Amino acid sequence: MAEFRIETERLVLRDWRETDWDEFFRVTNTPAVMRWLGGLLDEAGRTKQRDRVETCRANNGFCFWLVERKEDGAILGFCGLKRADAPGSTVTGEMEVGWRLREDAWGRGYAKEAAIAAIDAGFDRFGAEEIVALTVIDNQASWGLMQRLGMRRREDLDYPDPRFEPPWRDTIVYSLSREEWARRDA
Ligand SMILES: CC(C)(COP(=O)(O)OP(=O)(O)OC[C@H]1O[C@@H](n2cnc3c(N)ncnc32)[C@H](O)[C@@H]1OP(=O)(O)O)[C@@H](O)C(=O)NCCC(=O)NCCS
Repeated sequence: MAEFRIETERLVLRDWRETDWDEFFRVTNTPAVMRWLGGLLDEAGRTKQRDRVETCRANNGFCFWLVERKEDGAILGFCGLKRADAPGSTVTGEMEVGWRLREDAWGRGYAKEAAIAAIDAGFDRFGAEEIVALTVIDNQASWGLMQRLGMRRREDLDYPDPRFEPPWRDTIVYSLSREEWARRDA
């Protein structure tokens, strides 16, 4: 498969290299970043996370891509697409956009810049008709970004994820259709 790579003004979203993973976990496996994602990952959790990204890439051609800053090559985190995979949820199988950036990169619009590129790829290259985003009600940074991207709150699709205990269990859903995104571009 050809390497996937998108450039934005300040960022590169690309396929993973073997050597990226240690640095990715060094900068993102922190209490602040992982606060609403089930807490710090132990070694088994890190292996599982990596497997999920790599399996998604192999099955779909897309994944949560590595996000690198052009200016200095720093690994900022990941942002990209997957298939929503909570067992039996209202959105299982839908294309999902997601993000996780190191905390010293927050508040500079990097997440929005990366997410716009990922959503464009979802509609233009990977043929989605609808893209969803998932978080928990306490993760205001994440749903704030969903709102700034023009995504719509979908209370009708909210679901409890039985794999997690509160406060990580009750998942809230946002969605965006191809038409809504095209209108935003116009
Ligand atoms: C969710 C997450 C990616 C959002 O990152 P972020 O830096 O807050 O998001 P943005 O890059 O969009 O920037 C946010 C702020 O920077 C501001 N900003 C936007 N563009 C900017 C720019 N060019 N320069 C400076 N600031 C800018 C925005 O106005 C925004 O502030 P606002 O809340 O007042 O609107 C980040 O908080 C994160 O990684 N959290 C941990 C992992 C996680 O929970 N992931 C989601 C799981 S569901």
